[in-house]
Amino acid sequence: MYLYSISHANGEDELFKMEMKYLFNINPCKKYFISDFYIEVNRSPFVKACIDIKLTANTLEEMVDKLKSQKLSYEDFKVKYIDTESNMEFNEKHRIEGVIGYEIRGYAKIHDPEVIIGITYADGKWILGEYLKNQAIWIHHNNRPRQYSNSLTTKISRAIVNIVTGRDASTRVVDPCCGIGTVVIEALSMGVNIRGFDINSKVVDGAKRNLNFFGYPDVIDEGDIRKIEEKYDAAIIDIPYGLAARTTSEIQRGIINSARGITNKLLLVSLDEMDREILEAGFSIADKCHVFKGDFKRYITICI
Ligand SMILES: C[S@@+](CC[C@H](N)C(=O)[O-])C[C@H]1O[C@@H](n2cnc3c(N)ncnc32)[C@H](O)[C@@H]1O
Repeated sequence: MYLYSISHANGEDELFKMEMKYLFNINPCKKYFISDFYIEVNRSPFVKACIDIKLTANTLEEMVDKLKSQKLSYEDFKVKYIDTESNMEFNEKHRIEGVIGYEIRGYAKIHDPEVIIGITYADGKWILGEYLKNQAIWIHHNNRPRQYSNSLTTKISRAIVNIVTGRDASTRVVDPCCGIGTVVIEALSMGVNIRGFDINSKVVDGAKRNLNFFGYPDVIDEGDIRKIEEKYDAAIIDIPYGLAARTTSEIQRGIINSARGITNKLLLVSLDEMDREILEAGFSIADKCHVFKGDFKRYITICI
């Protein structure tokens, strides 16, 4: 069993819930949840950390007794109290960390320990296990050499990749209008099988440079969505908005129609609701949410 601590910012509520639904099959109502399967701690941008649960107890005293009989031992370790139900007072956390640390064999090490043991009180019981922190790699991806003012944020990009793949590691994804590769980079960093295309050669050069900068394989080619012949399990399209470059509703409709030919599952990101265009292309709408990037409200529609 695994305890995940989670958080999301204002404006991300619906996207957060949608990602949790497709990745963990839950509808979270607290700042944590317990899962009977493990998903890599770095995967979701809404997961803060995870405890790989080793022991549970009804009271702290019972936990101490269990630790005494288990004789847990580590080369070097640190105990950390994880806030779940509410934010516990600093001194009390420190006391609990001391009580637990005392029962674990090995060397307690504050800086750079080999193992961090997480302890928390959640769902009416004490929970202890190895603590794994999300390294938030998507933040690092903001430092890509080529930027694009209309790009999705790396955080939104990561969440939408998780929404289309869910837990199916074999999903073959395409981003046929990939811009400078924000979605492609997030997918590659999670080991997702993805290809990217863009009609604009300058943008494609920028995308290739971004991939190379982070050491990811070059999976992006110059290409028009209308000419893609291969079929994919899912497509992610952040449709041109006409903010920086000129676009028309005709062009947008053409892109959605072309998507129908290459996949049976499309996640469409758009500035306006595009239900009519989606239905006209022969898709049906399976799910929908919105997310804010600054003042821009973006619609996310799952079309099947
Ligand atoms: C909103 S941008 C995508 C931005 C991207 N998500 C990112 O984060 O960089 C839309 C992209 O669609 C591309 N595009 C427009 N028409 C296209 C077509 N027919 N085939 C492929 N790409 C196209 C544009 O060149 C533009 O880069």
